[in-house]
Amino acid sequence: LPGRSPAGPPAGFPAARPRRLRRGAALRRMVADVRLHPADLILPMFVREGVTEPVPISSMPGVVQHTRSTLRKAAAEAVSAGVGGIILFGVPEHKDARGSAADDPAGIVQLALADLVSEVGGDIVIMADLCLDEYTDHGHCGLLTAAGDVDNDATLERYGQIALAQAAAGVEMVAPSGMMDGQVAAIRAALDGGGHTDIPIMAYSAKYASGFYGPFREAALCAPQFGDRAGYQQDPARSVREALREVALDLAEGADAVMVKPALAYLDILRAVADTVDVPVAAYQVSGEYAMVEAAAANGWLDRERTILETLTSIHRAGADVILTYWATEVAGLLASRG
Ligand code: PBG
Repeated sequence: LPGRSPAGPPAGFPAARPRRLRRGAALRRMVADVRLHPADLILPMFVREGVTEPVPISSMPGVVQHTRSTLRKAAAEAVSAGVGGIILFGVPEHKDARGSAADDPAGIVQLALADLVSEVGGDIVIMADLCLDEYTDHGHCGLLTAAGDVDNDATLERYGQIALAQAAAGVEMVAPSGMMDGQVAAIRAALDGGGHTDIPIMAYSAKYASGFYGPFREAALCAPQFGDRAGYQQDPARSVREALREVALDLAEGADAVMVKPALAYLDILRAVADTVDVPVAAYQVSGEYAMVEAAAANGWLDRERTILETLTSIHRAGADVILTYWATEVAGLLASRG
């Protein structure tokens, strides 16, 4: 052929053709190098005190506040699907200024943890969110000063007490989410002092003050009654350096794993953290990320399953070893059926 060199393609045509590896589903499947696995997924679950039926969360279609018995059932389903872990959030009937229900041995979260240990213990990692906002009447993540500020150091003492109550109830890993300075050290010291040296801490290390938490506040009935959380959660307008500082502090305080939250709008942070640390990195695909996809899919604007898998693949690709997602059980099932 005119213009053809002996070893190459016709002049003017590309020699390198990345599309060759995209020809057909079998080939794409073989060369894929970002694979989700059910064991990488952690299911956040809500358990509500004083209800006899699960309560739907209107802004999170498909997610409910469980009763103790439906919680057990849903946890068993997560195990059957191969989900790696569950993280529990309690919604108590009575809230007060110091969040007493958070460390009450008869509080809903402690009772439900014990239920989970008896139902699925050993088959899935049983974790609990460790914070005060679900338990305080003012909805903030800590104790307040007389002036209405969140009192960092008084809050640390409460976190230590909550860690001990959750440990006594059988929690296998605690996940502090309140963004108080020194919280990992305080919780580690409390656990160790109580003989729980083997309970690991997954620290919500880089947690941003985010609009994407909106639906969670309906789910956990914990919207702040005044002000917001911008005084303790990170500012989205700070670059990755602040996130790395938070992560380094948590590791120095004894965190066993670190988390970035939210996920999709913070993939740059996630990548930087994953490139820096030598512990497992988690990402939390939060309530607003869930609601956004569900709402668009309900309108027929997005292909639901395809979009869900794309978001989770992206989060995994950005460096998350494990992902907290409200779709965990469903996605674990999808992954199993697709091989
Ligand atoms: C605080 C906590 C929150 C979430 C997890 N833990 C709320 C907040 O920080 O305002 C949000 C999770 C979600 O939006 O899915 N205990």
